[in-house]
Amino acid sequence: MLESKERLPVVVQDDHEVLSCLVARRIADLIREKNARGQTAVLGLATGSTPIGVYRELIRMHREEGLDFSRVVTFNLDEYYPMDPQSPQSYVRFMWENLFDHVNIPPENVHIPDGTVPRAEVPAHCAAYEEAIRAAGGIDFLLLGIGRSGHIGFNEPGTPRHSRTHLVFLDAITRADAAADFFGEENVPLEAITMGISTILEAREIVLIATGEHKAAIVKRAVEGDIHPDVAATYLQTHPAVTVYLDRAAASELTRVATPWLLGEVSWNPALETEAVIWLSLRVGKSILRLSTRDYRDHHLSSLVARYGSAGPINGEVFNRLISKIRGKSKLPSGRRVLVFSPHPDDDVISMGGILRKLVENGNRITVAYQTSGNIAVFDHEVRRYLDFLERGEAVLGGDTGDVRDTVQRIREALARKKPGEVDLPEVQNLKRVIREVEAVSALESVGLGADTARFLNLPFYQTGKVRKDPIGPADVEITLRVLEETRPEIVFAAGDLSDPHGTHRMCLAAVRKALAAYRGPEPELWLYRGAWQEWSVAEATVLVPLSEGELRRKILAIFKHQSQKDKAPFPGPDEREFWERTEDRNRGTADLLARLGLPAYYAMEAYVVEQGGRRVEPSGVPTASLGGGT
Ligand code: F6R
Repeated sequence: MLESKERLPVVVQDDHEVLSCLVARRIADLIREKNARGQTAVLGLATGSTPIGVYRELIRMHREEGLDFSRVVTFNLDEYYPMDPQSPQSYVRFMWENLFDHVNIPPENVHIPDGTVPRAEVPAHCAAYEEAIRAAGGIDFLLLGIGRSGHIGFNEPGTPRHSRTHLVFLDAITRADAAADFFGEENVPLEAITMGISTILEAREIVLIATGEHKAAIVKRAVEGDIHPDVAATYLQTHPAVTVYLDRAAASELTRVATPWLLGEVSWNPALETEAVIWLSLRVGKSILRLSTRDYRDHHLSSLVARYGSAGPINGEVFNRLISKIRGKSKLPSGRRVLVFSPHPDDDVISMGGILRKLVENGNRITVAYQTSGNIAVFDHEVRRYLDFLERGEAVLGGDTGDVRDTVQRIREALARKKPGEVDLPEVQNLKRVIREVEAVSALESVGLGADTARFLNLPFYQTGKVRKDPIGPADVEITLRVLEETRPEIVFAAGDLSDPHGTHRMCLAAVRKALAAYRGPEPELWLYRGAWQEWSVAEATVLVPLSEGELRRKILAIFKHQSQKDKAPFPGPDEREFWERTEDRNRGTADLLARLGLPAYYAMEAYVVEQGGRRVEPSGVPTASLGGGT
């Protein structure tokens, strides 16, 4: 039984949107059932990036299918404390902007813990919240996300099973993950009011959603681990009606996905064979070509070795598959039209700075299209520095500083008045954009490309001025399509990581895929890179590009040109290392792994997945299994 290690029912979907639609449909069915009986549907709701797709689908059902919210009563899981409901980070504002403003729910039916109550009154407020849930007849359906600390609601490690709505201290991981929303960890409140574990477990039905690679480890712990107060989500294992909905990335560490051979018989295919042999080689600490039949038998891989008769042929097969992925400069494209999409103005050099230089040396015609301006990730002090440069520079060039002085002064004053988390003035947003543009051009020059190579697309979905972005719309796809039509690329590069902290990479990839689907020209190869947030594994990658010490050095120097992101990036995500350090570790890590498997020991390596027509193209050029819509 493949799922035997799982202690909760789990549904895995390739596609993020399909996942959201499935959950929204379950909620809509409940609302319709209750409406038909003239009863209220009592929903428990979460905030955060995960449920936004569910809310979007519920809004669509309300608009297009008449889904009636007039009898729906809601209770939100939590709210930061203290928190002004008008603040951009408040969960009150989140819920109205993302759901309630767009459906016909009576405002008096909405309940969200109040982040403004005086501290002395918090216990009474929490008790009243519990009472209101009881008075409404209890929660019929509760939607949960999961934090990397394992929290559900804001029940951080150590929360007891019997807890009810209460004030909590936020865990360090939670505050780091919330830093982006608050423009800096130091602005994240220390506390929150949250439903307790008992409150959550009394809901009649519970759905937990998790998406993205960054949730994979905690999902495995919650689904396969023992019940323990250190991971609040494990308490869900005691509830009779919980379902966990995951995308493939969040499911990637579950045993059924990562090492299914440990659970019983599997149907082998080349990808799984490669995964299994790499796993075995690392597990027993021997190079692939030295693995024995006994090693396979001792590690639940008898059925694999049986397919090949003995260890030798399978070892050789996987070794050759891996060797054929390695492509040095002479095996990389030359004289072709290449279009690189870069979500932010530094992902190109962070993730593919090595291959980029080799492609320049191979005489390819390269265009780099920066999809978003990345302006929210520039500190105010960078703007002040450039304002100073403007004033001093104008004098040096013989101009009259009076021309810019007034504007510069006004911007300086606005920056001085700005409260943490406040949206910047349009001029400041534009200056931040320009700062990142000049850095991008400088980085391109350092890999041998001219300023005319760069296109700055400024996709509209990103231009909210806030951390939360709009969904990808027709204008984003149209702009992307125009670059394809203008450059008619034979090869397209795009970021293939799906879990950067704000979801921008995922949305940028969606825009590229939609534009490629609408593109009428000859279909280009799509090379997906990763690097800023995670890396392709050696088994997943279809192309591995070796880098010498000097090449890695030059790549890092190109990353340094993005000075506004150096030393301390405003949004480093859960990984505290600087981007160049992650690059060095990931590229050297891939090369080290290959060496441990007994393949040639290179200094460093970049990894790519190449697709054509939505299918992976293996090094032989033969397309293999479909990747599914979500990847
Ligand atoms: C939010 C909440 C939290 C989040 C969790 C995941 O109301 O209760 O438990 O669900 O922190 O957040 P995202 O979805 O932003 O990854």
